Amino acid sequence: MDDLFSYTLNQNPLKSFLDWFEEANKLEQNAPAMSVSTYDQDLNRPNIRYLLYKGIKENKILFYSNYLSPKAKDLNNNPEIALGFYWHLSKKQVRIHGRVTKMTKEDSESYFQSRDRDSQIASYLSMQSEPIQDKNTLLLKFKTAEELFAGKPIPLPLHWGGYLVEPYEYEFFLYGENRLNDRFLYQLKNQNWEVSRLQP
Ligand SMILES: Cc1cc2nc3c(=O)[nH]c(=O)nc-3n(C[C@H](O)[C@H](O)[C@H](O)COP(=O)(O)O)c2cc1C
Repeated sequence: MDDLFSYTLNQNPLKSFLDWFEEANKLEQNAPAMSVSTYDQDLNRPNIRYLLYKGIKENKILFYSNYLSPKAKDLNNNPEIALGFYWHLSKKQVRIHGRVTKMTKEDSESYFQSRDRDSQIASYLSMQSEPIQDKNTLLLKFKTAEELFAGKPIPLPLHWGGYLVEPYEYEFFLYGENRLNDRFLYQLKNQNWEVSRLQP
């Protein structure tokens, strides 16, 4: 598709994603924030929240979270996931559909050990998305964990780790004049990426 090249899109959508991300990352502060949508089977409704995009491994998109959180429960029941990136200054959006697997313990551990100590403690003590009485109770939990691990490394909590998203669909959106936005959909079919242009 000739069109693709005038938008500096590549036949490989991951390469295009990385190009767009790199450009956005130079332009704006919130570039790594992505909206992440999962499906809550019990309540029969979608769920959405922002998470930090943490890079690519073996063509898969990485993020880290609590393995007992609502998102983790959603993903245990249904590994289908949708990711959204919006870069205001770049005038671009990328939407991704994929399926999720958990990262190996070794890879989660190596990322966890690269984090600063306060983040490690926060991940260790938080029962993510469970109610808590007040901020003081949270600060007390933090202090207790700090004392427990004083002078020692903090091990990877069992309830925390990474996820890998294997995309099977990407949509690249670029604002156009007169609202004639340019949109390109990449779909993985028989291990090939098929590209089509979508109406605005
Ligand atoms: C910009 C931004 C980045 C965030 N990054 C993460 C993240 O990387 N991992 C995470 O577990 N929560 C992150 N959060 C918090 C999540 O949005 C969410 O509140 C939390 O993960 C609980 O989600 P859940 O109840 O749907 O499981 C982030 C929030 C914001 C605003």
